[in-house]
Amino acid sequence: MIHKPTAGNQWWRSGVIYQIYPRSFLDASGDGIGDLPGIIKGLPALVDLGVDAVWLSPFYQSPQKDGGYDVSDYCSVDALFGTLADFDHLVAEAHNLGLKVMIDLVPNHTSDQHPWFQRAISSPPGSKERDFYHFRYEEDLPNNWVSLFGGPAWTKLTDGSWYLHLFDSSQPDLNWNNPEVRKEFEKILRFWLDRGVDGFRVDQPHAMAKAEGLPDHPYVEEAGAGFIEGRESPPMWFQEEVHDIFRRWRKILDSYSPERAMCGEAYVLPLSFMAKWVRPDEFHQTFNFRFLDADWSLERIRSAINESFAAFDAVSAPSTWVLNNHDVIRHASRFGGGYGRPTASDGISSKDPQPDSQLGLQKARAATLFMLALPGVSYLYQGEELGLPEHSTLEDSRRQDPTFFRTGGKRVGRDGCRVPLPWDNSNGSNGFSDGDPWLPQPEIFKELARANQTAPNSTLQLYKKALKLRKELSLGNGGFDWLEIPGALGFQNRNVKVVHNFSDAPISIDGTVLINSSGNATDLLEPNDTVWLSD
Ligand code: GLC
Repeated sequence: MIHKPTAGNQWWRSGVIYQIYPRSFLDASGDGIGDLPGIIKGLPALVDLGVDAVWLSPFYQSPQKDGGYDVSDYCSVDALFGTLADFDHLVAEAHNLGLKVMIDLVPNHTSDQHPWFQRAISSPPGSKERDFYHFRYEEDLPNNWVSLFGGPAWTKLTDGSWYLHLFDSSQPDLNWNNPEVRKEFEKILRFWLDRGVDGFRVDQPHAMAKAEGLPDHPYVEEAGAGFIEGRESPPMWFQEEVHDIFRRWRKILDSYSPERAMCGEAYVLPLSFMAKWVRPDEFHQTFNFRFLDADWSLERIRSAINESFAAFDAVSAPSTWVLNNHDVIRHASRFGGGYGRPTASDGISSKDPQPDSQLGLQKARAATLFMLALPGVSYLYQGEELGLPEHSTLEDSRRQDPTFFRTGGKRVGRDGCRVPLPWDNSNGSNGFSDGDPWLPQPEIFKELARANQTAPNSTLQLYKKALKLRKELSLGNGGFDWLEIPGALGFQNRNVKVVHNFSDAPISIDGTVLINSSGNATDLLEPNDTVWLSD
């Protein structure tokens, strides 16, 4: 057997975790931006959907230069989203409803408005205040590193010194060699654990430790800001020193009851290397970007799954599975066109070829159904349960992603997957807000609003049915074996056979149909559809 059923049934081993992007979930205040009271209002819909936990993208005090991933106070709630009392209410309400709450922790960088950075730039070179960040004092760029959002990874202050930022210039990188930085974050962890959060999704953990002396990236021209599998680790990613930090954090989490968990947003390849990140005394789980970047191609999906089980089983960690998040083109559009590596986060503009929305949605529904039968943890991103497409014709004047600005519009970036959710047809933003939504919705959101998706074959009902079956059949902590079916990918988990037809012709299937991504219950599986069958 490729993967044996696991004994542990903790939520972080087998659950379904739903990502909430607070700006765009539901706005209770009427200012056009989603908020914590809005999330509280929307929680029953998530219970109805059938997920086990929510992960909230950042809601902390922030100048919002990178959608809140530029934090200026880690122990606060930005007034845009509400108050700490709202947060406490949210956690209590979620727990009442049986949902776990994970929150985003952003340790690689702060906002340039964070008091630590403000204090650093008003202190002299060489001071302990400056040692919180990476400053250099030379005439030319200190090294060849580039920002993931485009342009150099260094910005010069008016006093002539440079500071490092792997992302936007408003997001200076912290110096994790400094024990004071480590202490501060341990306090931050405890602050939220004491408030009852069930865990953390840790942003960019693979970037936290940098190679001694910040040497040039040996293949920056080829890899841009990223890396190439099989090549030596670039000096800003995957440095061994990060493991000490995670071990300390794990100890802190383990000192709390009930059990808390942390998921690393670690884009580390190959997966056998990533497995080191989920050893029993480090992260509980990491995102499986290998699966996401396989972009629904038969061979790549097959090898991503094989490698995932081999790597994670070796350290008794669950594999996670994910097809969407707030950084990638929504799968209902991505699968309807060729848009390159999803995690490059380039987005789609009105000048690009537009997705085939029918094909995209068909494949997206099928891919999700396939994913939800895999043992391990599945992550869903808000709105995918409605089959929402990317906003692929957003006007440039509305864009907010720093990627758009730092590349002079060459990469339009991630706004298209962050558009406010449609709930019903009660107002101009389809129930999202009584105000003007911070990003406009495309016309199709009207039809796709949650309240309209009551028909059995709607995408929302498909997700609900799949999540219910997944739970009833204990697929989350089940086993995995491939089924050999020409032109298809098929596997067995407990008594369920799951088949996706990657070929151009229908495939005949044998067994009782539990659920089919197209809604058909015949003994023919059409191209691009997935079915779950019982013996
Ligand atoms: C992560 C987040 C992304 C953010 C970046 C910098 O990749 O998912 O949205 O821009 O880190 O914090």
